[in-house]
Parts: sequence; structure tokens; C-alpha cells
Amino acid sequence: MNEQIVILDFGSQYTQVIARRIRECRVYSTIMRHDTPAAKLDVLAPSGLILSGGPNSVYDPDAPLPDPGIFDLGVPILGICYGVQLFGQFLGGKVEPGPQREYGKGTLTVRDRRCALFQGLPDTLQVWNSHGDRLTKLPAGFRPVAATENSRYAAIAHREKKFFGLQFHPEVAHTPRGREIISNFVHAICGCGQDWTMRKYIDQAVEEVRTQVGTERVILGLSGGVDSSVAAALLHRAVGEQLTCIFVNNGLLRAREADVVREVFGRHFHLKLRYVDASRLFLRRLRGVTDPERKRKLIGRSFIAVFAAAARRVGHARFLAQGTLYPDVIESVPIAGNPAALIKSHHNVGGLPRKMRFHLVEPLKCLFKDEVRQLGEELGLPEEIIYRQPFPGPGLGVRIIGEVTPRRLDILRQADTIVVDEMKQSGWYYRIWQSFAVLLPVRSVGVMGDERTYDYTIALRAVESQDGMTADWVRFPHDLLEKVANRIVNEVKGVNRCVFDITSKPPGTIEWE
Ligand code: XMP
Repeated sequence: MNEQIVILDFGSQYTQVIARRIRECRVYSTIMRHDTPAAKLDVLAPSGLILSGGPNSVYDPDAPLPDPGIFDLGVPILGICYGVQLFGQFLGGKVEPGPQREYGKGTLTVRDRRCALFQGLPDTLQVWNSHGDRLTKLPAGFRPVAATENSRYAAIAHREKKFFGLQFHPEVAHTPRGREIISNFVHAICGCGQDWTMRKYIDQAVEEVRTQVGTERVILGLSGGVDSSVAAALLHRAVGEQLTCIFVNNGLLRAREADVVREVFGRHFHLKLRYVDASRLFLRRLRGVTDPERKRKLIGRSFIAVFAAAARRVGHARFLAQGTLYPDVIESVPIAGNPAALIKSHHNVGGLPRKMRFHLVEPLKCLFKDEVRQLGEELGLPEEIIYRQPFPGPGLGVRIIGEVTPRRLDILRQADTIVVDEMKQSGWYYRIWQSFAVLLPVRSVGVMGDERTYDYTIALRAVESQDGMTADWVRFPHDLLEKVANRIVNEVKGVNRCVFDITSKPPGTIEWE
């Protein structure tokens, strides 16, 4: 059993960031609902608890509250922002609305140098505030540790119980030394070691998968994306020949994609790989279809049918492996006022028919994306796979506006290859979330040499994003834009114009369909 820190989620948009910061300290962290019973936590025996921030006031009638028993578990607790107010509410302090909402940068002055939370840190620190209420009377047994311009109790501590409260957010980048504060909490105060590494995780996950699967067969849909690729490599290490991966070519892949996957997994990893070329079926079904939602549904349904047929051909497999990640399984708390609670991915390719009763194997389900990448490195996957940009399930089908035809696919593949190539050469590819070409079935007039042309348009789309939920367009240098546009117009037959998409998300989406 790993040492772990449990974060109780009161609806802060930063809850996952706290979990990641802790893992960066090589300590395992889990996020649980704010009202998790103390008895359940007691069984888990975490080394420490963190009470996240949240959008509410503790005196709102529907404010999310913890089980009061958590304060008697005898484990260290760090309350962040709203978490501090909870100390006030439950342990005899007083919380009141501040004269004004404190939002943004502040300067923290550490007054009590004995407090382990600030060991190794200077007397003054830049911190990030975002709160309306504040403590006006300390709860019993607490002492002030540090103050900001507007708050006498910006950091408080109860030494005997090892309870700590921070009015500011140590987890965000705007608190530059916040990582050290979190590290002090988990190491110096909770006594955690540095045991959470991907190397150790592999051994553990391999054991777990072997126990779960026994001698049964496992199948996995390999898409060539980061998650399914890492899951495949991990499962292959765990159960070798019992694993069969199915790779469906839907005819909407990038140039050379099918070759890369076959090369890496078939020839390099010697994994049992069933390659199903269903491109003709997909393209036939897509003929004449122009509505984006119809296209998506049709591609999704066809995929399931093709995959299910291929799975049946593998023979009796009881297990289906999936590259589900931690953010997909965290039980989110729909607390009013928290935008993160409203956003839900609309397109996780959910489902095989229920009648195909597989048991699920999800060896990545407690990992964040960056951990999955580290794991992929440990498992020896090439950079080209581990650090690739996201690619939608419906593939180039949603990057051709209107009808998908073989000719349009061919044009888009050529343009896409140029974009990826130039992004990699200029070093932008790994710095940004996504960069790709979209084919617009809009024809315009041009001149090439002495000839008049009347050809399609390519839109270049490039965005920065943390998680794909919101995004901003990338401010590329003009000479890079010029180079990409020139290459596309000169090298791709059928295209005579290139435009650059400068729409952020919202209001736009990243993909065009
Ligand atoms: P949108 O277009 O909704 O995309 O702003 C957000 C992110 O999700 C990716 N995307 C998909 N991923 N299946 C996927 O696995 C899909 O159907 C799908 N559609 C969009 C998109 O590339 C972007 O990163």
C-alpha cells in the first residue's frame, strides 16, 4: 500500500492541480468527495488530508461541508482557502465576509519561523489570493503564522494537532514557491517519503493486472494515441501473449499513421496486433454525408461494429482494456459556481455494445496525463508516440468540412503532413496543445505561373490549452506562418489558398466539426 494524501474536494477549480503538485513530490494523492465519511478515511489511513478551496461561503445554506469526524482522525490537515474557513466553522473560530474580495497577487510575511510549512523559505513570499471571506477570530488552539497586506491570518497553525490553514493558493503557478510549501506539508509534516515513481508503479500495476486477469485473454483497441499506446505497452509487459490489440484503420487517419502503429507495436514490441483495414466501409458510409453530427455518429457506430466483429474473431476474451485516465474517473462535485463542475467532455468514445460483456481492465485510471507520458518513457515507447498531440477519434473526418471523399482526404493528408513537419522543425509541435490543417470546400481563384487556378482552401489551426476545455490560438511568428502557407499552396495540388484561424475556445471549438 502506498503512502497517500487524500484531498477532499469542495469544488475548487484547482483541486486536480493540488493532486498533481503532491504527485510531483513523489507522493500518491487521491481526490475524494468533500463529504466522504471519516470512517472510510480512517480505513484508508492517509498520511495527511487536504481540504481544497471552493466557490462557496461556509455560511451559505447549501455550502459543502465535511464529516466533522475528520478533525478527530489524528492525521495532519492542510486547509486551503475555503478549507481555512472550515477550520473556523468547525473548530470555534469566526468567518466573515472581507471588506472587499481579495483577488490576485499578495505579499506574504512569515511571522512564526518555527512553522514547518515555511521551512527553507524566505520571510516574504509572493502568493496568489482568491477569496471573499476571511477569518476574524482564530479557532481554538490555532496561532497566526503569516500575514498578507489584507489578512492577519493568511497562514495559521495548530501545532499539536498539525492542522494548517492557508488563505492563499499554494498550488497555482502564481505562488512561485508554493510547491515548496506543499512539499513541506507532505514530507516534513505528514512524514511521507518519495515512493511514488513510475518505475515502481509499473511493478505494482503489472502485479494488479496479473491478479485481475489470471490466464484469461485481454483485448484492447489501439488508436495510436498516447493513452491506448501506453496501456498496450503496460499490459503487454503484464500478460504478454494473452493480450491482443485491435487497430482499426477507419480511412480517416493521417498519412503513415497505420504504418507507425504497426512498426512500433508489431515489429518493435512484438505485440499481438490485429490490423483491420475498414477504410472502404467507412468511406462508403460517409458518401454524401455533410452534417457534422451525422458524420460523427456514423463514424462512431461504424467503429463499434468493426471493433466488435474483430474482437469476436480474437476468440473468447473476458477482458477489455481501456486507457482511462484519472481525470475521467474522479467523482466530480457539482457545486454551484464552479465552472469546472459544468464542463464534461462530450466525446469520449464511450461504448461497445453492452451485450458484449467484458470486464474492464483500466491500468491507467489513477494517473494524470503527464504521468502516463512518464510511464510510456519507462516502458520504452518512442517520443513520436508519447508526446504526440491529441487526435480526435473521428480523425480527418471532422477536419474536412462537408462531404468526405478520397480526393479531399488525400489533399488534407498532404497538408497535414506539412503542418506537422514544420511544427516539429520549428520546435512548436511539443510546446502547444494542437496544430493541424482543416480542409474547407471553398474554392477561390488564384494564379500560379501563368495559369488561373480555382482550388480549395486550407485553414491552419493551432491552439494552446491545458486540457482542451478552453483554448487560445497560438501567436506564431509571421515567418513561420508564411513558410507553412507557402509550402501548402506550392506542394499540395488542389489547394491555392491558406488561412489562419484566430478564434479562441470558447466561443469556437478546437476542431471545426
Ligand atoms: P473541441 O473541438 O471540442 O475539442 O474543442 C477539444 C479536444 O478534444 C479533441 N476531440 C476529440 N477527441 N474524440 C476524441 O478522442 C473525438 O471525437 C474528439 N473530438 C474532438 C480535440 O482534438 C481537442 O483536443
